[in-house]
Amino acid sequence: MYHMWTQAIEDAVAKTLKNIDRFGPKFPHVSRNGTYELNDNDDWTDGFWSGMLWLCYEYSGDDRFRQAAEATVASFRKRLEDHVVLDHHDIGFLYSLSAKAQWIVLKDESARQLTLQAADVLMKRWREPGGYIQAWGRKDDAKEAGRIIIDCLLNLPLLYWASEQTGDPVYRDAAAAQAEKSRRYLVRGDDSSYHTFFFNPETGEPIGGATHQGYSNGSTWTRGQAWGIYGFALSYRYTQNPRFLETSKRLARYFLEHLPEDHVAYWDFNAPVKADTYRDSSASAIAAAGLLELISHLDARDPDRSYFQDMLIKSMTSLVQRYATIGEENAEGLLKHGSYHVNGGISPDDYMIWGDYYYLEALMRLEKGISGYWHERK
Ligand code: GLY
Repeated sequence: MYHMWTQAIEDAVAKTLKNIDRFGPKFPHVSRNGTYELNDNDDWTDGFWSGMLWLCYEYSGDDRFRQAAEATVASFRKRLEDHVVLDHHDIGFLYSLSAKAQWIVLKDESARQLTLQAADVLMKRWREPGGYIQAWGRKDDAKEAGRIIIDCLLNLPLLYWASEQTGDPVYRDAAAAQAEKSRRYLVRGDDSSYHTFFFNPETGEPIGGATHQGYSNGSTWTRGQAWGIYGFALSYRYTQNPRFLETSKRLARYFLEHLPEDHVAYWDFNAPVKADTYRDSSASAIAAAGLLELISHLDARDPDRSYFQDMLIKSMTSLVQRYATIGEENAEGLLKHGSYHVNGGISPDDYMIWGDYYYLEALMRLEKGISGYWHERK
């Protein structure tokens, strides 16, 4: 495997270097006809580019990556100061992979302070009496006030980390309560998951599950399931609550047992499979990174460990051999065949910058033990 992972990383690092000039001060989101759509740091996805630059810097030591990564963090500082499109829960994705990464890699105190400010912005989304983090929209948005989504689990490490750093338990308590709420209401009895769940914002009473990007309200959107694998494993890391570890394992088993022959997920586990059914390679990249986190918490006697390890290698091998753009010198993206929002008709078969990020994170962890920026390094 050594050669395959190294070759994939080298290819990714070379493409990322080229993309620094291509993207300039802008941020990639998803592609159209093979070209990334760029924005001015006003989308939920903009931390992933920053995270890729930090990973490439850690791998190569090449200062061009550090300079580009630091420029993204300066942009994130301005974004926070001006509160540009921050009325959503994805503050964790944005600031964990940018400012927190700068703190982890360079021990830069100003980056640490910026990350703590971001955690305070995320805390503003805590809602009583329901006791949850509102995913989207403003507090007075009648439609959105009661919504949680499974993706939020990856925003929680920012809060856990803020408690570690400050000694103030308020962030960690909110994160652990959100993880528990997600476990109870988003994860179903057969280990599949809802994408999103609604509560009555006035009373906190549960209403029911629904989807936003999945096939149907009761279906299992594969990327949501992948967010759950990784997110619950991270909540276990920070809380040591065994229920979160068990939930990550349950979601992982379901995900892996429902994969098609080539070990890369279709976009929804309930979407009818035909010759033209879209994949979501980004779901498999997230699941791979999540499996690496999950496996790191399982001891050698755990009965699931070797199954997860085996399936992780099969999925990563398929991503590298069948989905990656290795050898396509002018390709902007690393992973083909991601899908953003199939039913919404938005980039159903394209590059997704988060797919590229998690693919690279998984490769770096497999090959170099570099584990991304969701937690402090030991
Ligand atoms: N967090 C949004 C998505 O996965 O599309």
